[in-house]
Amino acid sequence: MKHLIAPSMLASDFSNLESEIKMINKSEADWLHLDIMDGEFVPNISFGIPVVQAISQHTNKPLDVHLMIQKPERYIEDFKNAGANIITIHFEACTHLHRTINLIKKEGMKAGVAINPHTSPNVLADILIDLDLVCIMSVNPGFGGQFFIENTYRKVTLLNNLKKECNSNAIIQIDGGVDINNAKKLIQCGANVLVAGSSVFKSKNPLQTIQELKNIN
Ligand code: DX5
Ligand code: ZN
Repeated sequence: MKHLIAPSMLASDFSNLESEIKMINKSEADWLHLDIMDGEFVPNISFGIPVVQAISQHTNKPLDVHLMIQKPERYIEDFKNAGANIITIHFEACTHLHRTINLIKKEGMKAGVAINPHTSPNVLADILIDLDLVCIMSVNPGFGGQFFIENTYRKVTLLNNLKKECNSNAIIQIDGGVDINNAKKLIQCGANVLVAGSSVFKSKNPLQTIQELKNIN
């Protein structure tokens, strides 16, 4: 599949959210990536359900909601009602992963699992068949604008092999420190969705940056 680009709104100008969304609407971005942080699972608090709902009213692009929260099973329905299309929960934050993945799918959304930099893709062997997406964190979750962790390439290759072994069609998303310099190698290793926050919103011309990321072959 042609890779997808998911700009992360965390790096956008929150005081001009509507115009930032309009810019994304005009762009070649495939999804909008929304980072939800609870100050518990990660050492930062971002935004929550009402903001997701407000964003959903201004875009037709799928909302890719990344839950960096403990016990995400408590809020699946709320995020669905707020307009989420894809929900990704953390392996490290959810005891009953299988049950919660099924809940997300039962609500009619795509279901993903994210793994922190220290977590091996191998831990997903028994759930991979049930997943629509695996998000490999290429930074420690909690903040935008961090440096990309080089070990990520190895994890993408490993996950790709594991997918074949497990007969899984899950797509592979990379989140954190993605820019024009590492995107090509990530795609070559088998990444399908690139999340990009700072490299898009802090660039001189975000529309052009999205296009450049999309045009990588
Ligand atoms: C990190 C978030 C990322 C972040 C990416 O905790 O999950 O989605 O916003 O931002 P950049 O691209 O700036 O690393
Ligand atoms: Zn994210």
